[in-house]
Amino acid sequence: MKKIRNIFVLALVLVSSFFWVTISNAADDTVCIQCHGGLDGVLSAPVKQWEESVHSANGISCHDCHGGDPTDFELAMLPESGFIGVPDYAQVPEFCGRCHVGVKDDYMASAHGQALEMGGAQCVVCHESHAIQLASIELINENSCSRCHDYERAVKVKTAISSTEESLAQLEKSVASLHRVGIDTKRLEDSLFSSRNSFRRLFHTVNIDKINNQKSEIEEGLSETKAAILDYEDTLGQRKMVGGAIVLLLILGGCIALLIRKTFTDED
Ligand code: HEC
Ligand code: HEC
Ligand code: HEC
Ligand code: HEC
Ligand code: HEC
Repeated sequence: MKKIRNIFVLALVLVSSFFWVTISNAADDTVCIQCHGGLDGVLSAPVKQWEESVHSANGISCHDCHGGDPTDFELAMLPESGFIGVPDYAQVPEFCGRCHVGVKDDYMASAHGQALEMGGAQCVVCHESHAIQLASIELINENSCSRCHDYERAVKVKTAISSTEESLAQLEKSVASLHRVGIDTKRLEDSLFSSRNSFRRLFHTVNIDKINNQKSEIEEGLSETKAAILDYEDTLGQRKMVGGAIVLLLILGGCIALLIRKTFTDED
């Protein structure tokens, strides 16, 4: 009898915790996500795409881009609640540029930005709108960049930024392995982070001369970081050598001790 009661209590606890988890998850969702998640076609597709995006991972949700009131089903999409809806093609750079200010400035001054009203590429043409991922040089590819003009143009830009991209990746690897052996790499990481940031914005100029100019500036900064990394690696190498020598000495000492003991036992 007691056993059955225990099982009953356990089941009750399990069921109620299941409901509690479901309810508290729903409470995390905004009304935008709750309602759109249950709609059809183009009205619900953004929810799935957004869930996998870099914005979702960084807490940027529907209302951060589209405006509106994320807490109230009735008021959600009213202009009075700050709802701005869907931007026209040429408004997209302003729409995204509310947060990505530096990128927007570089972009607006570029050939793409200047041709915006005539169908120049804008943010969502290259990045999409809901399924946006971490940006990388792989966004420059034939599929994407031959939609409006020769891919040749894109290749030139890609070649110009590839080498710096590679040195950045190499240095980041070195810093990571220094970090693994317990060295304080905060300063190195910070300087790489800022180089990477200013470098990755540069693409949006799509201008070879501008890219080459700033490239040399950024590479100067990188060579300083590289020198600092080499210093650390040198010290580590010396430490390793000293460590190796100590181990060798210990082994040698052990052998001698063994030999001496063996000589004594042999004499016995
Ligand atoms: C109660 C359901 C419901 C809620 C809550 C809701 N939406 Fe909608 N949304 C809809 C429906 C239905 C449409 C299509 C009809 C229309 O445009 O009014 C729509 C359309 C949209 C569109 C496209 C508008 C256009 O002009 O094409 C966007 C963007 C949008 N919603 C964003 C949001 C955001 C952001 C929130 C939260 C602040 C939100 N929605 C909350 C039901 C909802
Ligand atoms: C990073 C900004 C951003 C976020 C976050 C975002 N959207 Fe959008 N959304 C856009 C842009 C830009 C468009 C314009 C369509 C385009 O050009 O792809 C758009 C278009 C739409 C449309 C019109 C669909 C169509 O194909 O015409 C709906 C509906 C919509 N968004 C709903 C949502 C909902 C719901 C969420 C949250 C799950 C959301 N959006 C999150 C930027 C965003
Ligand atoms: C012609 C295609 C294209 C257009 C148009 C474009 N981007 Fe990019 N974007 C890229 C590529 C390629 C990279 C990666 C460059 C790299 O890794 O060196 C990138 C990188 C980024 C990054 C990461 C770099 C950083 O500084 O954090 C952000 C954010 C970004 N883009 C936002 C935008 C916004 C906002 C717009 C519109 C104002 C826009 N992009 C327009 C292709 C494009
Ligand atoms: C409400 C602010 C906000 C708006 C509006 C916004 N973003 Fe973002 N975006 C962020 C934040 C925050 C991150 C994550 C931190 C970071 O990488 O800068 C991010 C990250 C990104 C990244 C990845 C950057 C990287 O490091 O590789 C891209 C690409 C991007 N956004 C493009 C866009 C595009 C395109 C739009 C317009 C459709 C847009 N964003 C609108 C805030 C915003
Ligand atoms: C939606 C159309 C469209 C797409 C997609 C597009 N471009 Fe462009 N691009 C243009 C237009 C328009 C111009 C300016 C007019 C011209 O020179 O033909 C241009 C010009 C350029 C230029 C010349 C810049 C200068 O200063 O002379 C380069 C380089 C370039 N694009 C690279 C790219 C790369 C890289 C991609 C892919 C990531 C890309 N474009 C995707 C429309 C596009």
